[in-house]
Amino acid sequence: MDKIKSLTGMPDHHSDGDKNNLSFKFFEVEQMIKEIFISYKLDEIRTPALEDANLFNRSVGNASDIVNKEIYIFNDRNDKAIALRPEGTASVIRSIIEKKLDQTTHKLWYMGPMWRYERPQKGRYRQFNQAGVEILGIKEGLPEFEMISLVCSIINRFNLKNCSIKINHLGTKETKKSFCDALVQYLQPFKDSLDNKDIERLSKNPLRVLDSKSEKTQALLRNAPSIEDFLDESSIELLKSIKNEFSDLCDVEIDFSLVRGLDYYSGFVFEAISSELGAQDSFLGGGRYDNLCKMLGGKDLPSIGMALGIERFAELVSIDASSKKIVSFLVVTSNLEPKAYKIAHQLRTLNKEIILDFHLTEGSLKSKLRRANKDNADYAIIIGEDELKNNTAVIKHLNDGHKNQQTVSLKELYSFYKTI
Ligand code: HAM
Repeated sequence: MDKIKSLTGMPDHHSDGDKNNLSFKFFEVEQMIKEIFISYKLDEIRTPALEDANLFNRSVGNASDIVNKEIYIFNDRNDKAIALRPEGTASVIRSIIEKKLDQTTHKLWYMGPMWRYERPQKGRYRQFNQAGVEILGIKEGLPEFEMISLVCSIINRFNLKNCSIKINHLGTKETKKSFCDALVQYLQPFKDSLDNKDIERLSKNPLRVLDSKSEKTQALLRNAPSIEDFLDESSIELLKSIKNEFSDLCDVEIDFSLVRGLDYYSGFVFEAISSELGAQDSFLGGGRYDNLCKMLGGKDLPSIGMALGIERFAELVSIDASSKKIVSFLVVTSNLEPKAYKIAHQLRTLNKEIILDFHLTEGSLKSKLRRANKDNADYAIIIGEDELKNNTAVIKHLNDGHKNQQTVSLKELYSFYKTI
């Protein structure tokens, strides 16, 4: 029979303890990022993976690549158009409006899978995971600092080198419009030298031309109008002040050509990139989206947010060995395993900082010890027929050349375990 395979661009993640394995790092990254979010006093929100397809037309924008080409849409049994979410922001705002929470401030985080029908390559998948943050209900100012502080905390927590945070300001709706008009006017006479993708962008969403991968377009853009000339002083001041405040923590660069691929942005935008990632060099992106809540039928709720691609980020990081101690629990008798299991259960309640691995498979003591060593266990607790009869256990120290081992009473075992 043919074997069923996973879909293209939709990898499985399976942590098997190998620290260089992407999946191992993926889970560690999730855990550590979650701790950072909690330390910023953010509340968790979890929205469904499936949404009414209209949500993304009206938010991410039907001029964006995401909605145009990449969104997964299907009709359900009731013929309703359903989308697999390509990102998390629109769903968060939909949820806040639905619960009538759109008149107050919120500081939220989420983590979970997103789907985009892109051409898979290194760092680009069709199912990928994001860790996101949204700060709702607060106007431009302090939330911008909080966002960049968060990005610096993430970069520094993982000791990342060779990465930078690019920041820009897209101005108000009006500034954005005047700049786009000027850009179109400048590029129109060169239309014949643009490729089809850029011609399409020029008519649908001119800002995206700045993101063009074509060398010809980039050469033309060198003399194009810059958004810098359209921004008011306070926007420029915000960029300078963020650069000044955070430059000693991270490499922060003002980049007036930075635009984002989703339509809902206005005002401050940013991206974190790494020269170690190749073509898909951006591992985190975000910005202000003051008009989104209103666009989706809610109140005026000025907001800002960001999302980090967990797979892409996991490529970059190296994870230190866990500081948690590992104890392997080896039972070498086939008769009284339930009684031994009760002892393991009791140990687990006594010290929650320890990873206790009860070996469930049968085998000789030698093979079980071999596996404990492979797992980098610090101690093995061994229980055989004699130990069970006498209410004792053997504690073997595995990280001192295997010499040290002692037989102890169960009471002594419990006291020892508490102090590991
Ligand atoms: P985004 O820039 O589209 O922004 O995605 C954020 C991050 O998700 C990217 O920097 C990248 O690391 C990761 N990512 C995107 N597409 C893929 C893919 N196909 N494969 C692997 N990783 C990918 C957003 O999604 C916005 N919702 C961020 C935001 C939140 N803005 C305001 N609030």
